[in-house]
Amino acid sequence: MSGFTFRDGQLTCDGAAVAAIARETGTPVYIYSAALIREAHAALDAAFAGYRHTIHFAMKANSTLAILRLLRGLGTGADANSGGEIEAALRAGFEPRQIVFTGVGKTRDELDHAVALGVKAINIESDSEADRIDALARARGVRARVALRVNPDIDANTHAHISTGQRFNKFGVPIEFAAPLLRRLAGKPGLDVVGLHVHLGSQMLDVEPLGSAAWALAVLTREVRDAGLRLEHLDLGGGLGIGYDGAAHGDPVAYAAAVLPAMRPTGLHLILEPGRFLAAPAGILVGRVADTKAYPGSPRFVILDTGMTELIRPMLYEAYHRIVAVAPREGPTEQYEIVGPLCETSDTLGHNRELGPVEVDDLVAVLDAGAYGFVMASNYNRRRMPAEVLVDEGRWRVIRKRQSYGDLFRNEE
Ligand SMILES: Cc1ncc(COP(=O)(O)O)c(C=O)c1O
Repeated sequence: MSGFTFRDGQLTCDGAAVAAIARETGTPVYIYSAALIREAHAALDAAFAGYRHTIHFAMKANSTLAILRLLRGLGTGADANSGGEIEAALRAGFEPRQIVFTGVGKTRDELDHAVALGVKAINIESDSEADRIDALARARGVRARVALRVNPDIDANTHAHISTGQRFNKFGVPIEFAAPLLRRLAGKPGLDVVGLHVHLGSQMLDVEPLGSAAWALAVLTREVRDAGLRLEHLDLGGGLGIGYDGAAHGDPVAYAAAVLPAMRPTGLHLILEPGRFLAAPAGILVGRVADTKAYPGSPRFVILDTGMTELIRPMLYEAYHRIVAVAPREGPTEQYEIVGPLCETSDTLGHNRELGPVEVDDLVAVLDAGAYGFVMASNYNRRRMPAEVLVDEGRWRVIRKRQSYGDLFRNEE
């Protein structure tokens, strides 16, 4: 049985008892299902099977080395967003030619490193960045492989904080300026313009905007082909959403149906950069109940030993995550505020959640936490980064130890 399912009244991950893992590792702990990552990858890959494509996992969603190695083993490439993520990709065994490097505000050092490595493509964010890459490549006597990130001014119909493809967002070059820029870049001796890139936003359940973005790139491709560019690929970014509420889940088949009609006439290789779709459902965050309180006139609180330091999505994006007891107790349900231990009122993982009886020391799991979870963890309140566990074929192992207090103070005077 793959994934997170209840067996004999206990939450299990790919058959392993979550409570048994948490007892050994302590809490908070992230637990990932290798089977769910493989299944999500297979579903996406199969949906696009009729067209030449490569999946570059968006490392910003989860860059734990064991997770990256698992994905590399499935044949994915990597989408890195910083020098640190490039380093993580290399340490996980990706070849430079398997890495695309995206990101607004790349530093000169990061760009130079990417040029020296010879990554598959550096996704250019502006005229000015293009000129910097050209100069860095010429100084090294090489041609840098680049793709232009276009801002198509398309509404992704998602939360404003994870929407990136509209005119007022900081990302990419507005589409009407893309063709003249591409023609200019075609003459640069330090650049090989090999692709076009777009990323509209994240957690998209409606695939229509993704289709519109693909058409925008296809039209631009036709427009600039005469400029002597040797385009190899179109990179459609990530964005496919998941069913955080346990209902509507991103549909890879609908996604492929939305974008492939635009891709086909171009004949170019398709790159996808999914993050959330591959990793989010495959991870849970497990915490322990540290306290409970219920006073007349106030909500009933369940206070966990985990909160915004381990999973900031509910506070940052008003994101909804299902929260379940790892071993639910028999009895009437009540409405609870599920909160963390931090000195912040916003440190709330779930409002008005219906749970059965809850006692101190019970384990609670926050579902769909495998993407944008650990990667956004912080040491706020001097808390230590949590442990991470990977369950594979019923066996589990710690893939990242909990930070020690030694780790916490290592770099300080
Ligand atoms: C350029 C780029 N590619 C891919 C992704 C991954 O998006 P998602 O996790 O929604 O698939 C992001 C996320 O913000 C991104 O900025």
